[in-house]
Amino acid sequence: MSDILRWRTFLTTAALALAFGSSVFGAAIDEVLKQIDPATGKAKDTATAFPISGIISARATLADGQVLADVQPTGGTGVPLLVSKADGPKIVVRNELSLTGPLGFSVLKVKEGSVTVAATNKAFGAAEPRGAEFFKDAGSLAGRYVQLTNVTFPAGKFDGSGKIKVKGAGGEVTLHLPATLKEREVPAGPQNVFGVPFKADGEWRLLAARFLSVSNKANLALATKHTCISCHNPDIKAVGPAYRDVAAKFKDDPGARAALIAQIEKGGTGKWGIVPMPPLGTKVPPADREVLVDWVLGYRWDAILSE
Ligand code: HEC
Repeated sequence: MSDILRWRTFLTTAALALAFGSSVFGAAIDEVLKQIDPATGKAKDTATAFPISGIISARATLADGQVLADVQPTGGTGVPLLVSKADGPKIVVRNELSLTGPLGFSVLKVKEGSVTVAATNKAFGAAEPRGAEFFKDAGSLAGRYVQLTNVTFPAGKFDGSGKIKVKGAGGEVTLHLPATLKEREVPAGPQNVFGVPFKADGEWRLLAARFLSVSNKANLALATKHTCISCHNPDIKAVGPAYRDVAAKFKDDPGARAALIAQIEKGGTGKWGIVPMPPLGTKVPPADREVLVDWVLGYRWDAILSE
């Protein structure tokens, strides 16, 4: 089955979820979903160019360079998009976008040049935690941004096939991933994986948009204790850079770990702007500096997964 057909299956199910009355929709996205016949996945109206806006929750590049993505309001059901190769680079996970396009078969075909980035790195939560057991039938949450908890990856590297089977409590789940992950080491330790459920080849899968270590909450508490969070937000630029931007910058730099540990000890300036970061070496013990830097660098998966 081609990727586009997989996506059609996905939207058909998203539309079914709508028919069964899933909650909270953004008005415009609601309008678009109403145009799709839940039984067949076919659009009733293929002439109108629908203007919609929302946050990109997941994306995947097809072999021909077009991008399949999912745009959704916080906590709501999303609309799958098919975006031209030219507009593809604007489709970045967690960016807020406005765009327009007519419905094709189950997918909003985004009009070339219509994509406007309204804001970047918008944090959105409302991801309901789910175990692997749930993926036996994830139909009730198709098109929603969910969290698959406590996942372990098989040891080794990604193979570039664009998918991987991971273990969770109560079973296995297939994750859908960019083929550009090929040859990267899988994430270390148990992860929570965020993304959009969709059906392909008869099974429910997760189009993965984010991996975060299961210890993310504890690390956030440690960063709060050491006052990092008074200047930094993991997702949004504050006095200091967003951690996901720091991690994206250093995603392929093996020397970054040592340099960032030194930054906590000695402080620094000029890399992200003119505001300096104060030295915190007397306050943050060496072992905590390492934990915090490994945590910050863990946000690099956000960048890698949206390649
Ligand atoms: C008083 C505000 C403030 C506090 C507190 C603070 N930072 Fe920063 N941080 C900054 C600023 C400003 C920058 C950007 C500095 C620059 O441009 O070089 C920065 C940069 C960074 C960077 C990127 C460094 C690089 O080389 O790109 C990391 C990582 C970082 N901080 C982690 C931390 C951690 C972990 C803590 C807590 C232990 C912390 N920060 C506490 C303001 C702060």
